[in-house]
Amino acid sequence: MFFPLSAPPLLRFMAAAAAAAGTPPANMRAVQYDTCGGGATGLKHVEVPVPSAKKNEVLLKLEAATINPVDWKIQKGMLRPLLPRKLPFIPVTDVAGVVAGVGPGVKDFAVGDQVVAMLNSFTGGGFAEYAVAPANLTVKRPPEVSAAEGAGLPVAAGTALQALRSIGAKFDGTGDPLNVLITAASGGVGLYAVQLAKLANLHVTATCGARNADLVKGLGADEVLDYRTPEGAAMRSPSGRKYDGVVHCTVGVGWSAFEPLMSDAGKVIDITPNFSAMLTSALHAVTLRRKRLVPLLLSPNKADLELLVGLMKDGRLKTVVDSRFPLSDAEKAWQKSIDGHATGKIVVEMEG
Ligand SMILES: NC(=O)c1ccc[n+]([C@@H]2O[C@H](COP(=O)([O-])OP(=O)(O)OC[C@H]3O[C@@H](n4cnc5c(N)ncnc54)[C@H](OP(=O)(O)O)[C@@H]3O)[C@@H](O)[C@H]2O)c1
Ligand SMILES: *[C@@H]1O[C@H](CO)[C@@H](O)[C@H](O)[C@H]1NC(C)=O
Ligand SMILES: *[C@@H]1O[C@H](CO)[C@@H](O)[C@H](O)[C@H]1NC(C)=O
Repeated sequence: MFFPLSAPPLLRFMAAAAAAAGTPPANMRAVQYDTCGGGATGLKHVEVPVPSAKKNEVLLKLEAATINPVDWKIQKGMLRPLLPRKLPFIPVTDVAGVVAGVGPGVKDFAVGDQVVAMLNSFTGGGFAEYAVAPANLTVKRPPEVSAAEGAGLPVAAGTALQALRSIGAKFDGTGDPLNVLITAASGGVGLYAVQLAKLANLHVTATCGARNADLVKGLGADEVLDYRTPEGAAMRSPSGRKYDGVVHCTVGVGWSAFEPLMSDAGKVIDITPNFSAMLTSALHAVTLRRKRLVPLLLSPNKADLELLVGLMKDGRLKTVVDSRFPLSDAEKAWQKSIDGHATGKIVVEMEG
């Protein structure tokens, strides 16, 4: 059941009053697509019922959401037949907001708690005024962490953290000072990876465009290469280091380019593996190679999200915000992500 945006003023007034009183209204604004392949122009502004929290879910009044490339890849149909599971689909999983209701079985949250959450990838829901989140992927947000900064974390920082762990990074001071290369260090994942690698005492070589070199250095990278120069494309460490690990955040560079740059047991963590990368990594695995390519798919979990929010609270990790758009301009935010030149996270805000 959909309410046209031109709902009678009295209905809209009653909805606003309910929101002010803390009771979720019946309907909300949302942005969805109803076919695959439409890009930014395929996004439609609609009014739909506010979802309700089921067992082990919390209902959130959203303040901010951030886009990950996977969100528009799903719309493009690149993850079919797995996703989108059904149409119309309200995209985006990474959100921050306030708890507006709790479902059965939820003990750790109460109405009014400020939180960061990752919504279920199969149901999405972040481009809306309200969304339901699994309680086990919802984390309290201290006042030091703004909604926009917190909403940047779930997928992008979670992936950076797990990629660094697969290289051997430790975040408790017990790790070795490994040498890592981070490609596309100016992107959503890359900027968190640079900061997290420094927290793990790693030596960081980073690739990005010249315009972002100072930013990436300022966040801790020891060496920065401009990917549009021959030296940058070669990715060799200016100080002659071999890499113990690569957090590979871009595409278009295959194993053969990395292989000569790696230390004896160096691992390339490919977060956007294509078919040939999957074959290479399978071959490396069955032949028990020490130097190898490893594909990584984020395994979302609450403990990691708590760790990341905690680092942000302590001022040790920050979100670089590329741009902010109101929900009414969601298609502009979507296009910005598709264009592939964001520096950090693209934020969509629900009010204002
Ligand atoms: N496996 C997983 O679970 C997982 C999780 C998250 C993301 N991903 C994937 O990882 C990729 C990166 O995600 P993201 O959110 O970081 O993307 P993003 O924020 O859209 O990345 C954009 C940045 O990449 C830079 N860039 C583009 N090509 C580059 C190159 N050849 N060398 C160096 N920098 C380059 C751009 O710099 P310029 O503007 O200067 O060109 C821009 O700053 C995406 O394909 C995404 O789908 C996978
Ligand atoms: C996968 O990516 C590598 C590196 O960008 C490229 O050389 C190769 O042609 C791609 N393979 C397929 C099957 O798309
Ligand atoms: C979270 O709980 C759901 C059931 O509500 C379960 O299916 C899922 O595996 C759990 N996920 C995590 C990351 O604990």
